[in-house]
Amino acid sequence: MAPQLTDAFARKFFYLRLSITDVCNFRCNYCLPDGYKPHGVANKSFLNVDEIRRVTRAFAALGTEKVRLTGGEPSLRRDFPEIIAAISENPAIRQLAVTTNGYRLARDVQQWRDAGLTAVNVSVDSLDARQFHAITGQDKFRQVMNGIDAAFAAGFERVKVNTVLMRGVNHHELDTFLAWIKPRPIQLRFIELMETGDGGELFRKYHISGTIIRDQLLQRGWVQKLRGRSDGPAQVFCHSDYKGEIGLIMPYEKDFCASCNRLRVSSTGNLHLCLFGDGGIALRDLLANDAQGEALEARITSALVQKKQTHFLHDGHTGITQNLSWIGG
Ligand code: GTP
Ligand code: 5AD
Ligand code: SF4
Repeated sequence: MAPQLTDAFARKFFYLRLSITDVCNFRCNYCLPDGYKPHGVANKSFLNVDEIRRVTRAFAALGTEKVRLTGGEPSLRRDFPEIIAAISENPAIRQLAVTTNGYRLARDVQQWRDAGLTAVNVSVDSLDARQFHAITGQDKFRQVMNGIDAAFAAGFERVKVNTVLMRGVNHHELDTFLAWIKPRPIQLRFIELMETGDGGELFRKYHISGTIIRDQLLQRGWVQKLRGRSDGPAQVFCHSDYKGEIGLIMPYEKDFCASCNRLRVSSTGNLHLCLFGDGGIALRDLLANDAQGEALEARITSALVQKKQTHFLHDGHTGITQNLSWIGG
């Protein structure tokens, strides 16, 4: 059995979120309202396929079983299928997922599945095409919906959908979302808006607690599921009349971080111990050749002692995270 990365609070880490680009072609108002701008690492290239293979191999040797590819929009990388194949060839990685804006799904999802992808999470912030356009800056609602259908057709049994909850924008759409997932095996997750370095004003305008949705679900006969080992911080609700489920991601709730099971590596190879953390621990100098594997594993293991018990969002701090495309959400 592989050793298991464990922190000072006895949390185990078997889930790696790997950002492979911070470029995105959408301009979601809570993330990149002014479009993609390279941040401090301009001119620095993103990890290549060999570096990605090495970093995921090191994490797998330390007990990682699940890798999620994030961005930016990961599928904008031309070598995306090669990246999937390079990770999925490692038998220790049992789940390989992507979080995507859905732009390329209809065209490419079959190819991704054939390369070894096992799960997709798609962002859909509104089921109203005009509202979708207003939030994302892209008139691609139909294309994304077709993409979700294509994911099912390609053989994915479940799809997760992420909806960032915003006051007055989509918080009143609950019943429309429920009708949508009634016949579909979709886990729709309402994510509480998180305050990022660039998003203080937006946060004050739109933030609304996920407990509002929780109360509405309970009123409608939904029940909360027991938390599974790999569930992470989402609270999941189900209803016997529905094929779909609802998840709530409420980072401002007490104890949200107690079930943290994930570590992050940025697109330029920095290890981040928390989404809202510090500048990260550089790993890239140990990704140049296979002979550095042991040193890489040692650096990852020793970094973990610095992981804090919780983020400090409650105090109005956002760490260095300017927006979530920066570190991969
Ligand atoms: P599953 O692995 O399928 O459960 O997905 P996930 O929730 O881990 O991944 P996804 O990329 O779909 O993330 C959904 C949202 O949850 C994103 O907005 C993430 O930024 C947010 N999120 C995920 N992990 C954390 C975390 O550790 N802390 C905080 N604050 N937010 C997180
Ligand atoms: N608050 C909450 N969720 C966010 N996302 C991006 N920025 C934020 C934010 N400020 C979500 C997107 C996507 C996921 C990767 O991150 O909706 O689903
Ligand atoms: Fe792009 Fe995702 Fe950020 Fe939207 S949330 S702008 S899709 S990286």
